Amino acid sequence: MRIGQYQLKNCLIAAPMAGITDRPFRSLCYHMGAGMTVSEMLSSNPQVWKTDKSRLRMVHSDEPGVRSVQIAGSDPDEMAAAAKINVDNGAQIIDINMGCPAKKVNRKLAGSALLRYPELVEKILSAVVNTVDVPVTLKIRTGWSPEERNCVEIAQLAERCGIQALTIHGRTRTCLFNGEAEYDNIRAVKQTVAIPIIANGDITDPLKARAVLEYTGADALMIGRAAQGRPWIFREIQHYLETGKLLPPMPLGDVQHLMGEHIRELHDFYGQGKGVRIARKHVSWYLKEHAPADQFRRSFNAIEDASEQLEALEAYFENFCVNKEKS
Ligand SMILES: Cc1cc2nc3c(=O)[nH]c(=O)nc-3n(C[C@H](O)[C@H](O)[C@H](O)COP(=O)(O)O)c2cc1C
Repeated sequence: MRIGQYQLKNCLIAAPMAGITDRPFRSLCYHMGAGMTVSEMLSSNPQVWKTDKSRLRMVHSDEPGVRSVQIAGSDPDEMAAAAKINVDNGAQIIDINMGCPAKKVNRKLAGSALLRYPELVEKILSAVVNTVDVPVTLKIRTGWSPEERNCVEIAQLAERCGIQALTIHGRTRTCLFNGEAEYDNIRAVKQTVAIPIIANGDITDPLKARAVLEYTGADALMIGRAAQGRPWIFREIQHYLETGKLLPPMPLGDVQHLMGEHIRELHDFYGQGKGVRIARKHVSWYLKEHAPADQFRRSFNAIEDASEQLEALEAYFENFCVNKEKS
């Protein structure tokens, strides 16, 4: 998979997820086999850039892999300015968000709401492409609603504007996250344009990954929610694509080690208070496959101190292993 001058190490991309794919999680996904990660979305509105939230969302030049930064907004000049600032700060690819269904984002006519206004889409894409000298990519849904599915039209327009790769989530805006993602429209887009296409939506395991690649003909896959609590999914998929064989489950000791490191990184990155809060949701995802973890999660979520969190996790795994040996 190639985006402009960047050759990725494979065709698996970690999806941008606001509040989740922060720097520690992106690094983890990359080390666990993702060919590229995309930052959480940054608003193009300069008034919010100075907030802690935006500052932490900006990329840093020592991040591993190709640094793709996602921006969201609807004003072409503002989007171009935001792209430039992020490139100056170290972004190597600018990704434009036209896939987000969130009401907060759509109310300002950004994210997937823009798909209803192709002329404005064209202005935004051209403004950004003409302002920065790094590859610009676009992320969309298949359309506003099943009745207004215009991803083929948007893809053609994107190609004309100089967009260098297009991610398509196989749902419309009005579908939100309901039902199952469909891949017919991604396949239709792939057959229409020559730019690299990245298929996205409900890719949850290696078999599905291969099936979606084969069915759509896409050049790459983007994986979001399935990587929550399972960042090693990239390695699992890559291994299956290369060998046709499934990797054995990750040993519990490795899961424990990886999770401990991740939680420590979150504490360092956000500071104790926020780090402890953010760690809770990740721990809950890591432990969702462990049936007896419910009670643990409740007590874990009451912990306010960073080192206590780490100690509680260690004790949890010790108990878990002892109980497993007994049974
Ligand atoms: C909590 C959450 C936050 C998200 N934030 C973003 C975002 O900032 N930008 C974006 O383009 N998509 C965002 N998405 C959409 C994902 O990138 C992806 O398109 C969607 O989850 C479908 O892929 P999946 O089935 O692999 O999760 C978000 C999704 C979730 C669940």
